[in-house]
Amino acid sequence: MSEQIQQTVPSLPRIGSPAPPFEAVTTHGTIRLEDYKGSWLVLFSHPADFTPVCTTEFMAFQSIYSRLKEMNTELLGLSVDSLFSHIAWVRNIEQNGGVKIEFPIIADLNKDVAYKYGMIMPEESKTETVRAVFIIDDKQIIRAIIYYPMSAGRNMEEILRLVQALQTADEHKVATPANWKPGDKVIVPAPQTKEAADERVKDDSYECFDWYLCKKSLP
Ligand code: BEZ
Repeated sequence: MSEQIQQTVPSLPRIGSPAPPFEAVTTHGTIRLEDYKGSWLVLFSHPADFTPVCTTEFMAFQSIYSRLKEMNTELLGLSVDSLFSHIAWVRNIEQNGGVKIEFPIIADLNKDVAYKYGMIMPEESKTETVRAVFIIDDKQIIRAIIYYPMSAGRNMEEILRLVQALQTADEHKVATPANWKPGDKVIVPAPQTKEAADERVKDDSYECFDWYLCKKSLP
């Protein structure tokens, strides 16, 4: 009778919970999560260095880095490759693609950070991290999580849009509708009483679908 191997499935981090702390070796030296307190952070994993989709993603992540910084947001990559592999790959990207990768990359050889963040999904790959994106706010709370499979490169405009949507929601106490982009109207919180609902539909400063769905422009 074959012995069944029990696999330990780590619990996945959740939106709204504190980001798991870490201290990691990176291409910019040792970095701790707490180093990012006061900034937003896009922490992302990729499956492996020197692979085609990941190479396109790295050049694309670099292309949005300055726009992220304008939003007080840092970028930090991760894979289970070694530090020397990361260094060789970013040099290769610079030589062949003319793109200098300016953000740090964690060399998570022992998978410590990858397990804490649920970046290993054994059904997709037993050894590599999937394409995960964690948006962590300036108080180190996980605000959004995106997972992509090995075969599909991520959409950088969506990552930027999501950071912008979260920061806009925080700043103006609003929500953002489907396909929202900066400059579009935002959704005001729905009334919580019958009286407030009756008042809401009379307020012509809002564009209302009905009392529970009203939009306004931001100044
Ligand atoms: C890629 O980046 O091309 C890739 C990496 C791991 C598995 C499949 C594709």
